[in-house]
Amino acid sequence: MTDTQTIDFDIDRYLRNSKKLDLSRLPWAEIPNHPLADGDLMCMHYMMDIETHTVIYLRDLLATRAAHDPQATAFLACWVYEELWHGEAFSAFLRAYGIEVPAEPKLPDGSTPLPTRPRRTAQLREQLGVGHRLALIPSLLGSAVMRDFIALHMTWGAINELSTLTGYYQLIRRSEHPVLHQMLRRVIQDERRHFAFYRAQAKARLAGNRRAQRLVRWALRRLWTPVGAGVKSDEEVDALVLYLFADAPEGRQAIRELDATIEDIPGLRGLGLMQGVLDRALERARRKPGWAGMAPMPAPAPDPAAPRAAREGAAARPTAAGPRRAANGDRPGLAGSEQTTIEPIA
Ligand SMILES: [Fe+2]
Ligand SMILES: [Fe+2]
Repeated sequence: MTDTQTIDFDIDRYLRNSKKLDLSRLPWAEIPNHPLADGDLMCMHYMMDIETHTVIYLRDLLATRAAHDPQATAFLACWVYEELWHGEAFSAFLRAYGIEVPAEPKLPDGSTPLPTRPRRTAQLREQLGVGHRLALIPSLLGSAVMRDFIALHMTWGAINELSTLTGYYQLIRRSEHPVLHQMLRRVIQDERRHFAFYRAQAKARLAGNRRAQRLVRWALRRLWTPVGAGVKSDEEVDALVLYLFADAPEGRQAIRELDATIEDIPGLRGLGLMQGVLDRALERARRKPGWAGMAPMPAPAPDPAAPRAAREGAAARPTAAGPRRAANGDRPGLAGSEQTTIEPIA
């Protein structure tokens, strides 16, 4: 990035206002009085784990030239703090609802010491193994060799933040829990600011820089995976995507808007990243009955008014059920039988 490029983000204002997510006025006592669907619980466990994992993503960012940029490092310091409290918000909500897996020791006054669920978090990180730790090396080398490499991380961050907040909006749409709606709307406010930073950085670093645009486009096409992939299994990622986006036209529309917003960043036109994720998840569910909690159903009748390719696609499409109950909320399709039949939209 040259000195003449400006970042369209008020970092001073962000730093002054950054704070722990305020949930003090959330009606916590009301939480157990409203049911959560199995799919809601699955999503909340996924979101809790990935929000908590953000500090590990920070490691990769600090291995790049981002570490030389005082504005970027100041943002990252506050960003990772805010993300910690997002993870704790999901953890506290699930506990208030009556779910705490594994059970954690309590302080004498009955409260849960912070950080909550340390055994779950430690286990999640340990099971990633050496390969995950070595994943730092491409960032280290890429950043050392290519000046534009940081543009990739900033663009990647923008996609992650926007897909996260889009997922939270979809969980609001899918869940009927009024207190969860309140909590998610507050988290979304933070995610919007995070997205604004990464998008502004990506735009500034890619505008007028064809070399950086080619690098970022190439890397996103070949290497990009949705938030949580690599930490969660492929089936868990698909289960989340299908639950949030495949049940109704609103889900597919949200994905289109997400892609369109990302493709406004210079050099990214026509990538269709998230639509590709949804299409591939639907395809895996069609090929493997029961995959990601999707139950096989008779194929829907093709729409005679639709183009031929769409008709053939519709006939081959799976019909979905909601994810099955999972004891710890994050292994769909492995236990239980409560299912809500829904039509996937492609
Ligand atoms: Fe977050
Ligand atoms: Fe965020």
